[in-house]
Amino acid sequence: MTKVLLATVKPFAPAAVDGIQDICSDTGFELVKLEKYGSQEELKAAAKDADAIIIRSDKIDKDIIDAAENLKIVVRAGAGYDNVDLAAATAKGVVVMNTPGQNSNAVAELGMGMLIYLNRNGFNGTAGTELRGKKFGIHAYGHIGKIMARIAKGLGMKVYAHDPYVDRVIIENDGVVCEENVSDLYRKCEYVAVNLPANEKTKGFIDYDLLSIMPEGATILNTARKEIINENDLLTIFKERSDFRYVTDIAPECKETIEKNYEGRYFFTPKKMGAQTAEANINAGLAAAKQIANFINNGDTTFKVN
Ligand code: 3PG
Repeated sequence: MTKVLLATVKPFAPAAVDGIQDICSDTGFELVKLEKYGSQEELKAAAKDADAIIIRSDKIDKDIIDAAENLKIVVRAGAGYDNVDLAAATAKGVVVMNTPGQNSNAVAELGMGMLIYLNRNGFNGTAGTELRGKKFGIHAYGHIGKIMARIAKGLGMKVYAHDPYVDRVIIENDGVVCEENVSDLYRKCEYVAVNLPANEKTKGFIDYDLLSIMPEGATILNTARKEIINENDLLTIFKERSDFRYVTDIAPECKETIEKNYEGRYFFTPKKMGAQTAEANINAGLAAAKQIANFINNGDTTFKVN
């Protein structure tokens, strides 16, 4: 019997787990759950005889892939797959997929909500600022960027986007100004949402050169990955510019320095929670289970990333 391991340190909502169970039962697969586990050793033991694994930000490294003798497919129920060792998977003929777009609405809503929270001083009753009329830049116009653009427009913001991988017509059809040059995006927009995936090209990409040219009231919104921000440069900007603010769903390594010195100019969620809604869990979790069923039964490799 095909064994599907659902390995989530941060568990899905119960309705999503029930939905994954239903798909597995209907397909004749056995579902094994490993939730809130404490170590990679536990994951390794559970993965040993799994044919398929569903994960979130859970780390699938070479050690796990080598130990999982029957493994055929890993589906990252979500967008970013920087937590999976693609080279090790490919070397062993293991297919890796993600579920693009399935949790984007949750991430976009959280991001825009965090901006409002910071602008209104953590809802503490003191006078804050509004988003209406401000310029909102979107760095990487994928699923999340597109939804953020819609919400930002609804809030009365002027929206700009930069993405060398997206045709400018797609951006302009959304009523968004396309910036060919990344510097122009940062030079124009008080608010920039960074939606880049973390990879060798993007690590540290958001640096002093980009942050220092932002206009007065510069605010970075990061719901992607902490690695895309150059943290030395981030600290330099915090020191040099008293107007600079940083809002993120993934606290930086230099979190304590910022918390100690720059009160009111940052917001970090206590735990990464962009995709943590029942809807996003159901969308991404069920998509992952269906993709596994389609791959095992029909060889369908849509959404393969390696
Ligand atoms: C993603 O890449 O899909 C998001 O960062 C969500 O990650 P999570 O499933 O670990 O919450």
